[in-house]
Parts: sequence; C-alpha cells; structure tokens
Amino acid sequence: MRDIAARHGFAFGLAVQPRPLAGDPAYAAATAREAALLVPEGATKWWDLRPEEDRFDFAGIDAITAFAARHGQAVRGHTLVWHAAMRPWTLAALAEGPARAHRLLEVHLDGVLSHTAGAIRDWDVANEAVADPWNSGDLLKDSPWLRALGPSYLDLAFRLVRERDPTLTLTYNDYGCEHATAYDEEKRRRVLALARGMRDRGVPLDAVGLQGHLHRDLPFSAGTVRDFVRALRALDLRVLITELDVIEPEIHAPAGGLTPGPSIAPGPDAPDPADIAARDARAAARVHAFVSAVLEGGGDAVLAWGVADHHSWATRAQPAARPLPLDRDFRPKPMWHALAAAFAGQAWP
Ligand code: G3I
Repeated sequence: MRDIAARHGFAFGLAVQPRPLAGDPAYAAATAREAALLVPEGATKWWDLRPEEDRFDFAGIDAITAFAARHGQAVRGHTLVWHAAMRPWTLAALAEGPARAHRLLEVHLDGVLSHTAGAIRDWDVANEAVADPWNSGDLLKDSPWLRALGPSYLDLAFRLVRERDPTLTLTYNDYGCEHATAYDEEKRRRVLALARGMRDRGVPLDAVGLQGHLHRDLPFSAGTVRDFVRALRALDLRVLITELDVIEPEIHAPAGGLTPGPSIAPGPDAPDPADIAARDARAAARVHAFVSAVLEGGGDAVLAWGVADHHSWATRAQPAARPLPLDRDFRPKPMWHALAAAFAGQAWP
C-alpha cells in the first residue's frame, strides 16, 4: 500500500507495537511492506514513556524508530497531552496545581522531544481535547490537564513544543468527525472552532488528525466530510486520517460500545456476524467513501490503527471483529483493495 499511496502523492501508515515488531516476522514483514509511515500505538504515551517521575522508558519508541530507519519509514508521535494513558503518579502530580503541572509538562517535552528529535517529525501534541457533544456543552473535555492548567492548557502545550523544536509538525488529533449525525456535526463545528481560535491567538498548529474510527452503519455524507476537510485546509492546516479502522455494530454493540458516543445498535439490515463476505464488503465500501472524501478535500495521509485484524484494539474488545485492511494472515481484505482504489481516485466496487 505504501507504493500505491506514494504513486498518487499520498502517504500510508500503520500503528505498531514494539513487541510483535520484534517478535513476529510476519507482522514485521507486513509493516515493512505496507507502511511508509509508522505511529506507535502506545510507545509515546505517558503510560509507556513515564513509568515513574524520575524515569523515561524509551525502549518501545527506540525499537520502532530503529525499525523505521531500516525500512525507510517516517514516524509520527502520539500523543504528548491526553486525558488518558497516564499513571497514578502523573495524575497525582497534576492534581497538585498549575505550577507543578506546568513544570511536569516542560520536563516531559524536554525529555521526549530531545530524545526523538531525529526520528519523529510530526506529533499529536494534543489528543481528544474537544468535549463530546453527547455529554457536554463545553468546547473542551474535562481532563486532568484542564483542571490543572485551565482552558489555556492546549495553547500552552502547542507553544512549548514549538519553542523546543520549530521544525516539528504540530497536530491536533480527534475522533467523531466522520459521520452524518448530529453528534458528529457538532463535534466538527467544535474542532473547527478550536482550530480557528488557535489561529486567531497565534498558537502554532500545523495539522488536524481525523482518527477515522468508522462506525460502519452510521449515516455518512461524502460532501460533508469533504467540506469539513476543505474548511480545515482553508486555515492552511494539513489534514490526515490517523487511526483508520471499522467498528461493526453486529459485532460490538452486543459487547458494549467501543468508543464513547451514541450506542450503535445493529440496523435491521446488519449482516449476520457469520457472513464474513458481507461484513467485509460493507466495511470496504465505508472505508472507500470516507478516505476518498478526505483525500478529495485535501487530506494527504492515511494511517490504519493496527497492522492486521488480530492486532487491533477492536479485536481485543471483540475477537470476532474485522476492523483493518489486513486479515489475521496479513493478507489484503476487500478493505485493502478499497483503500488502494481511494488512493488511486478510482470508484469502488
Ligand atoms: O501492555 C500491557 C500488558 O502488559 C498488560 O498485561 C495489559 C493488561 O492490562 O495491558 C497492556 O497495556 C494495554 C495497552 O493498550 C497495550 O496493549 C493497556 O492496558 C490498554 O489500556 C492500552 O489501550 C490502548 C488505548 O489507546 C489506551 O492507551 C489501545 O491499545 C489503543 O488502541 C488505544 O488507542 C486510542 C488512541 O490512542 C486514541 N484514539 C482512540 C484509540 C482507541 O481507543
């Protein structure tokens, strides 16, 4: 897929984990073959990087950047400021108040950015900071960072990263902007408002990441997504799909929703969970529609949130899930071919 995407001026990437990258030759081969760009699924989150306050653990990200260097791949970082994936010591420190939180963030950025400077050129500086319309009327989601530093914490984070390395691409990453629902429409409005506000305040922001966790049967409008991407591009922002996968209601709804948001019950025409061909065909069509709309709007890169089905967060929640372009044998599924068609600007099916 890396060659197909590049041939049409785009980049394709994969979220990876260091353990299978080192220990599973088929996983490593698929990663080398398919991706021009890697993002650590967990290795650059606070949980992994900061086991204790006086220790950075770079083993995971070093293994990933070393692999990328061997295979001519770029690496993007995920994520410097998020409300999740922080250990108890971090949460306790943030609860001590603004001075402690400010210092904690500066020490983290000094350590992480200096260590990864040569290898990671694009960071999700902040992830999922905009409040979910289904449970909040505010612009910003409640977060230990918001409570510690107030609503200017995002501006501070982006400014501190820019001060430390003016050559980095600074990205804001979020979910819930993909579907033609009232919730996603409001989320898109809020993300645009955030980006415009940062622009107006002179806060450095270079790109917006649309995660792309696609709920397969939710309403979808290509025009809506295309217009949203164009509106972000009009702010001189790059747009990329950062965490592409497909959530199947007949597989996940019975087990409880995967991502926050309206409960996605299977529709009357949802395929039988045993009908793999029907499920794969529907997932492929949704991926083609979404990716085509983002690329037509001016998006320039797509990353899938895992190398193959059995390495997805979605299959950890529901083993029968088929969320990614490669199956458990690392072979292309219809979704892979649909993605290739989207990069080539071809119709599907
Ligand atoms: O590595 C430990 C393992 O040693 C331990 O036995 C196991 C049982 O607790 O946990 C393992 O760590 C898990 C880690 O994933 C690695 O698999 C954590 O518990 C688990 O919380 C963590 O979940 C990740 C989650 O973010 C939280 O960081 C998912 O893999 C990852 O797919 C998910 O990714 C997020 C993006 O960062 C942001 N967008 C949404 C997306 C899906 O939630």
